[in-house]
Amino acid sequence: MSATAGEVRVAFMPSGKRGSFAAGTSVLDAARALAVDLDSICGGRGICGRCQIVVSEGSHTKLGITSRAGHLIPLTAPEELYRSRRGLAPDRRLGCHARMVGDLVIDVPPESQLHRQVIRKDAEEREIELDPVVRLHHVQVEQPALASPTSDLARLLDALGREWGLTGLACDLHVLRDLQGALREGDWMVTVAVHDGTTITAVWPGFRDLALGIAFDVGSTTVAGHLCDLVTGEVLASAGAMNPQIRFGEDLMSRVAYVMMHRGSEAQLTRVVRECLSALTRELAETAGFEPADVLEITIVGNPIMHHLVLGLDPTELGGAPFALATNASLRLRAAELDLPVHAGARVYVLPCIAGHVGADTAGVILSEAPQASDAVSLLVDVGTNAEIVLGNRDRLLAASSPTGPAFEGAQISCGQRAAPGAIERVRIDPETLEPRFRVIETRAWSNEPGFEGTQVSGVCGSGIIEVVAEMVAAGICSREGVIDGSLAARSARIEPEGRTFSYVLAEGPPRLAITQNDVRQVQLAKAALAAGCRLLMDHLGVDHVDRIRLAGAFGAHIDPAHAMALGMIPRADLASVGSVGNAAGTGARIALLSRAARAEVEEVVRRVEKIETAIEPRFQEHFVAAIGIPSSAGGDSATPRRRRRERRMA
Ligand code: FES
Repeated sequence: MSATAGEVRVAFMPSGKRGSFAAGTSVLDAARALAVDLDSICGGRGICGRCQIVVSEGSHTKLGITSRAGHLIPLTAPEELYRSRRGLAPDRRLGCHARMVGDLVIDVPPESQLHRQVIRKDAEEREIELDPVVRLHHVQVEQPALASPTSDLARLLDALGREWGLTGLACDLHVLRDLQGALREGDWMVTVAVHDGTTITAVWPGFRDLALGIAFDVGSTTVAGHLCDLVTGEVLASAGAMNPQIRFGEDLMSRVAYVMMHRGSEAQLTRVVRECLSALTRELAETAGFEPADVLEITIVGNPIMHHLVLGLDPTELGGAPFALATNASLRLRAAELDLPVHAGARVYVLPCIAGHVGADTAGVILSEAPQASDAVSLLVDVGTNAEIVLGNRDRLLAASSPTGPAFEGAQISCGQRAAPGAIERVRIDPETLEPRFRVIETRAWSNEPGFEGTQVSGVCGSGIIEVVAEMVAAGICSREGVIDGSLAARSARIEPEGRTFSYVLAEGPPRLAITQNDVRQVQLAKAALAAGCRLLMDHLGVDHVDRIRLAGAFGAHIDPAHAMALGMIPRADLASVGSVGNAAGTGARIALLSRAARAEVEEVVRRVEKIETAIEPRFQEHFVAAIGIPSSAGGDSATPRRRRRERRMA
């Protein structure tokens, strides 16, 4: 890089882009010429403050540049004004007004980068760049004149082309309704929202830098929403609510059955879930101190049945083979079509479904966990009424759904309940005395510790069920075939006869909580279905081990991987490679909200996912039968947690 007379040299960091410009060029203009990622909403008017830069002082020998703050013109009046109104750190300048008069190395801080990293998953080294689908542009529009009779819209489009290089834009009808008033109220200065570089979806008088979005994860039990600032990527508020469809059926299939038995009732289910989304929208906006009308963009993930019901599509076809989706493509809609109380120009992006049993929630998990970005073979498991399973790496990805039933959600278990305060989630059983101790959700103390007194215990949630059965096997209460040993009744009053079988009393109560022989059977059936689904995908991929296992969803967040492996629910793997990823589907929705590139990525990845239908695979049945025992021959770890601890102690 060399400069001729009257030119200055500049290098931008961290991109390293550099060039020579005529002395007096603004930093923003130089950045634009070099395609440096330096943000701007106000178009260089010194209003938005997005273009802030820092001069990197000193001698940069590699670049051959000696950079000084004095190589910019002194602080300008608009910068002084911005500093007094909104604050500007002493080392910061506004790139749009700082003109270069000498050689410079310019640091662009992360908050001034339009495409800054917004979601980092530390353990996975997953970085997501902000690449907003909605952008705000502040423009000055020419006033109408008799001599040149053009429309307000024509002059707005002209200004957007001139100042921002935006051409061929379409315009929503409601924008036209607002445009005349906005132009005159703003004294011919307006801010517009441009969606996906193609359509003007909102207009406001004067300057505005507020654009919000909401990422929704519609689960069959809970609905969660995250309100995000589309300009900065920041999460401003999060909220959740029970899915009100629960009154039509506890689990997915009972809701489909309700629709089948009550013609036209899908409209009712659609209405209540949309009301829930609307209520969450209002709650999120109020929590963050904004209005629902400030929301310009929404993304939605959900399992196939939730996906159909939110969209107002009949889910009946998903209730039986061949589980035909109305559509598996991603959808771009107007928020008004879903009755959401947001800005009239707000758009909705619905992530694609993968198959009739593997929905947009799994697409969200893929976007969040990115198995396609790695050579390592990943197994992603999202357990609900069905387990949605994804296996593979950058070469191939397979997906299947396994009919685990609702046992892991605490249903079909005599003392089972949903994961909620009062539910037992952790269990340990002393192998000598057969006495249990346990912990309930939202209480730190174990049941045998001070501080537990007075804790309300109401039932056992999915993770608690898994732990208690694994601990019963480890303590010898239950055989590997899953039979509760009645002979132990002589040793412990906790083993009780119940008809021709036996139960294990976990808590004296009230309420009295006992694990029955049938409960153990339900857990065995559920875990065998999950194990068989995993094994089937491993067969198809031709692998006998996986490099990493990620357990998603509320269930995955509570489950202890050691116990899950001890039961044979998931394939044998190094425990360190097994992790919970929380609400990965919701994270995927958030990534899609903030990144246009991520939407293209998930659409491309989902297109090449190979769907494996467990219902028609004979090997699924074989694996299922083989996986009934504990630990299973379907790949379960032969060492229970307790035995491993004992072995470690002996070693
Ligand atoms: S571009 Fe808006 S203040 Fe510089």
